Amino acid sequence: MAHCLVTGGAGFIGSHLVETLLARGDSVTVLDNLSTGRGDNLSHLSQHPRLQIVTGSITDQPLLSEVVREAEVIYHLAAAVGVRLVADDPVRTIETNIYPTELLLRLAAQRNCRFFLASTSEVYGKNPKERWNEDDDLQFGSTTHPRWAYGCSKAIDEFLALAYHTKFGLPVVIGRFFNVVGPRQVGHYGMVVPRFLDAALAGDPLFVYDDGGQTRCFAHVREVVDCVVGLTALPSACGRVYNIGSDHPITIRGLAEEVLRLTGSRSPIEYRAYAEAYGRDFEDVRRRVPNLERLEATLGRKPRLTLPEILSDILKWRLGEARPVT
Ligand SMILES: NC(=O)c1ccc[n+]([C@@H]2O[C@H](COP(=O)([O-])OP(=O)(O)OC[C@H]3O[C@@H](n4cnc5c(N)ncnc54)[C@H](O)[C@@H]3O)[C@@H](O)[C@H]2O)c1
Repeated sequence: MAHCLVTGGAGFIGSHLVETLLARGDSVTVLDNLSTGRGDNLSHLSQHPRLQIVTGSITDQPLLSEVVREAEVIYHLAAAVGVRLVADDPVRTIETNIYPTELLLRLAAQRNCRFFLASTSEVYGKNPKERWNEDDDLQFGSTTHPRWAYGCSKAIDEFLALAYHTKFGLPVVIGRFFNVVGPRQVGHYGMVVPRFLDAALAGDPLFVYDDGGQTRCFAHVREVVDCVVGLTALPSACGRVYNIGSDHPITIRGLAEEVLRLTGSRSPIEYRAYAEAYGRDFEDVRRRVPNLERLEATLGRKPRLTLPEILSDILKWRLGEARPVT
């Protein structure tokens, strides 16, 4: 069994990953500064004998060197995330998402650790293709629009990771996540599913941006984590980029309707301009659908849960939660 470092392990996806790694017998060190993650996400595991939780930042170089010391596998998930957060603070996005990744890759190369890099569908920018393949062009908007800073920063991480693979033989796998959802995700940073569920349960309006015709694909975090762990263990996945998510698109309007149907809520759906939430410069991506052939060919599986199944699972967690999410 391996010793794993999970940066961002107190986050939404990270905490599910930590659970999976512990369940299969790995030892895990989490490094997280709890900026968007929550201590609560791991509180049920805090006494686990194979889990060490370090509260600190990946921008702290001595600390990063320290936590890498034992690691055989590194899952690098810590990042400035969320469209709103990123649009509000592009400097923090770049500082968090680029320099520490480079250092972590260097440290991993010295130890020849296996390395998983969490990237994002945002790297495709506004490529107008129906379904995005991993080798498609990245089409970002102008640098005067801060919203592209997130995708660009992750694209640079990908370049760095691939370069470390080519130059030093670092066994790295890159996963581009597409709208991962599930228990423990919160709506504070603009994430649409928890936002809609919270509004529906409270009887408040569900705010849909633009005309709601933009499409997304939602995948359950457990299936995504299964892909992450599976790919990271496979020598044939090294040095490659994978789309990870669901390939079943739904419009945001359709999502809002599905949330209302499932919760039985009588909340209205209200339409708003993006400018109200994100400023006048904001550009959205109308369609975001992955091609998952590479994932399926390598791993022999892909996320399959349907949206109603996923939403029911989140709702069960949401209703079973003893305390409100703060
Ligand atoms: N959720 C999605 O749909 C999605 C989509 C695309 C990509 N991703 C990527 O997946 C990863 C995990 O995202 P998530 O959805 O779980 O979000 P999250 O905000 O829950 O997780 C990110 C974690 O990183 C931590 N973090 C941030 N800055 C840090 C720093 N300087 N030092 C240490 N820890 C720091 C946060 O506290 C948080 O726990 C991120 O890299 C994100 O870019 C997620």
